[in-house]
Amino acid sequence: MCNAGPFSFGKKTCRSSEKYIIFAFWICGVLAQLVERLVRNEKVRSSSLLGSTIQNPSTAGFILKFSLNNKWVLITGASSGFGAAAARAFGGEGAKLLLGARRVGRLKKVAAEAKKSGAAEAHFHELDVSKTASVETFMAWAKKKIGNRKSAVGNLHVLINNAGGAHGLDSVADGKDADWETTFQTNVLGILRVTRAALPLLPHDAGASIINIGSVAGRSAYAGASAYCAAKAGELAITRVLRHELFGTGIRVGTVDPGLAETEFSNVRFKGDKKKASEVYADMNPLTAEDIAEILVWVASRPPHVNIDEILVKPVDQAETGKVYRRGK
Ligand SMILES: NC(=O)c1ccc[n+]([C@@H]2O[C@H](COP(=O)([O-])OP(=O)(O)OC[C@H]3O[C@@H](n4cnc5c(N)ncnc54)[C@H](OP(=O)(O)O)[C@@H]3O)[C@@H](O)[C@H]2O)c1
Repeated sequence: MCNAGPFSFGKKTCRSSEKYIIFAFWICGVLAQLVERLVRNEKVRSSSLLGSTIQNPSTAGFILKFSLNNKWVLITGASSGFGAAAARAFGGEGAKLLLGARRVGRLKKVAAEAKKSGAAEAHFHELDVSKTASVETFMAWAKKKIGNRKSAVGNLHVLINNAGGAHGLDSVADGKDADWETTFQTNVLGILRVTRAALPLLPHDAGASIINIGSVAGRSAYAGASAYCAAKAGELAITRVLRHELFGTGIRVGTVDPGLAETEFSNVRFKGDKKKASEVYADMNPLTAEDIAEILVWVASRPPHVNIDEILVKPVDQAETGKVYRRGK
């Protein structure tokens, strides 16, 4: 037996050509093991992808991205703000869109913009998430749109529960029943109704996602926002409950919770008082609807084995709900 460096085969010394042959065998063995491990890892990761991922040629070569191209994406509250920006952003990924809100004229415009961004399809239908009948009619329409197609993947892949908002900024002492009721109907019951109706359309183990829009208000309190803070805390609780209930189905569930973002949100809260609404964002740099839309696309396009549970995102100028840095003029 010969002695070849790291390979000790006894006391006998082998010729240099033998050493090289043994060394080459050793290298081949190590490489074969490495390749086998990588291939096995790849198989595990892609077992539920239905051929729908693209491989990122990154350093390791094993970072996967869930392709949204030709996937059905349903967005509530798509007529303005985050929802409209999300429609354009998912459109840019080549998704097929199902857009809902009460203002159908606005939806028509957003659908056209999304098509321009690259959406494979963009459909819209009236939706009032505060009414069960409206949600059911909307979802029956959505099911038809999805089911009538000859698409290879005939299911809903992304549900974005975005419809909602705040109504008024009264203290509890001065609170209005109508504001409280609308706040809960849209932000809490709306998510429950839409999710219940959409669940049968979401495929198991195929990278489907439910993404709810929460708020920093669901995580910290500020005066005048009792119903809104409670409703968004409710949204967070619903997201966490769904994560438990859908455990094992492969359906992903998460929440994206923004801080101050300049949309129609404050205009709605102050019932069309534009001056009051603009004061909210005065002398600071708020988030934009596009900032949130980009995050939503990122969350939905993670590889199917990755669940982004909760994202809290604020402008740099906002440390807390009521702590906003005003830069002055
Ligand atoms: N902007 C912010 O600072 C901020 C921060 C944190 C969280 N959020 C949350 O982000 C979400 C989107 O708000 P946004 O900022 O984009 O405000 P926005 O521009 O006012 O958009 C709200 C969207 O919700 C829809 N909506 C409201 N009530 C509805 C109902 N009953 N049925 C169906 N759709 C309804 C509106 O459509 P129609 O009026 O046409 O129905 C609109 O498309 C809301 O859940 C809000 O609470 C906003």
